[in-house]
Amino acid sequence: MNHGELASANKKHTLASWVAQDQWKPLTMTKAEGVYFWNADGEKFIDWSSQLMNVNIGHGNKYVNEAIKAEVDKISFAYPGIGTEARAELGKKLNEITPDHIVKSFFTNGGADAVENAIKMARLVTGRSKIMTRYRSYHGGTFGAMTAGGDPRRLANEPGIPGIVRMQDPYAYQSPIYRGKTQEEGDQVLIDQIEDTILFEGPNNIAAILLEGYSGSSGIMQGSEVYWNSIQGLCNKYGILLIIDEVMSGFGRTGKWFGFQHYPNLKPDIIVMAKGLTSGYVPLGAVSVSDKISTYFDTNPLWGGLTYSAHHLGCATAVANIEVYQNDNLIEHAAKMGQVLKSKLKELAANHPCVGDIRGEGLHFVIELVENQETRKQLSPFNSPPTEPMQRVAKHLIENGLSTFVRWSWIFCNPPLTITESEIQEGIEIIDGALTEADKFVK
Ligand SMILES: Cc1ncc(COP(=O)(O)O)c(C=O)c1O
Repeated sequence: MNHGELASANKKHTLASWVAQDQWKPLTMTKAEGVYFWNADGEKFIDWSSQLMNVNIGHGNKYVNEAIKAEVDKISFAYPGIGTEARAELGKKLNEITPDHIVKSFFTNGGADAVENAIKMARLVTGRSKIMTRYRSYHGGTFGAMTAGGDPRRLANEPGIPGIVRMQDPYAYQSPIYRGKTQEEGDQVLIDQIEDTILFEGPNNIAAILLEGYSGSSGIMQGSEVYWNSIQGLCNKYGILLIIDEVMSGFGRTGKWFGFQHYPNLKPDIIVMAKGLTSGYVPLGAVSVSDKISTYFDTNPLWGGLTYSAHHLGCATAVANIEVYQNDNLIEHAAKMGQVLKSKLKELAANHPCVGDIRGEGLHFVIELVENQETRKQLSPFNSPPTEPMQRVAKHLIENGLSTFVRWSWIFCNPPLTITESEIQEGIEIIDGALTEADKFVK
């Protein structure tokens, strides 16, 4: 089948997520290798978003492929309560790569159910019900996780689950909280508001604060050390657990194993993972917990689990993935390539009046486009269908062989961690062309 036929065959009897089906114009994929994939017409694309920011080790890694093949020949399925070598080994590996106080992991199918289980655990352990989260955050597409995320993807599915209390974000570039202030000054005002919210909601009712370790698809707005140290301080002061969602920012994405490690004083009670845990080769998520939480579940049942939790093949895939990060020094490589990406993005910003802000770390960046750098008015408003300039940007990128997410006024830049300097340059040149299109709409 050529591209058109394959796209139609997919549309005929399958439903795509997050889109009205008439609007769904599927890309196709028949081959993928490293940072590239090819469609059914043999056209090549640079994967500038690692699919859904998850194929961290790149496409077609032979070591992981062989590990999967070897494992499936040994065991095809073992229910979650059965001990297997892969499950034991993965638990040990996660213990090694997380901070010392994180001792055990519960394995899930993916990110959303890992978040759901983290919420469940926090409620069970503390006996409190409320979970504080950010408006500009995404934690998954199942009911609990979707309510926890403030991202507007939740709106059509509201009211969702009870007990979620949302906070404003450290969005220094646009939030009125930051007007006329430095990032740090604004962060302090935001923290004061968050403490007020805790007091209004009743500290004894708040089980956890749930934050992405490094903000992701809601726009990569991260806050300074003032923000993060104060969040830890509030958790300590009011006995609130800190749940860090590393589904997107984990496994080298930001140049460290986990995004929260950019802030040395953070001590999460629960770390949620998925995506880069297996780089998507087989689905798996994990909830890694502190000694304190682990001890609670020594004598209290963990009320959760699915038929496919801790899928044996997923665990074996994750073990092989972690070996790739370690043996190929991928985390260090991501940090190094992140510097290259950052400097090239800064050059683009200097040359294009449509670029308002560049945010991120490692291989995890977003470019925010504006129609005017003074007013900071975005080229496409929040939660609205794409305006003409952003449509042109998206069209230019894909027609020139770069696949990524263009959302509202943002272009996401999150390639596989294996990317080289020349591959970064290739992507930057395509983005340069797209920004030239957007410059025509600057006022
Ligand atoms: C930060 C974060 N948490 C959770 C999820 C949900 O993960 P999954 O799609 O594997 O359920 C995502 C997915 O994009 C995410 O970015």
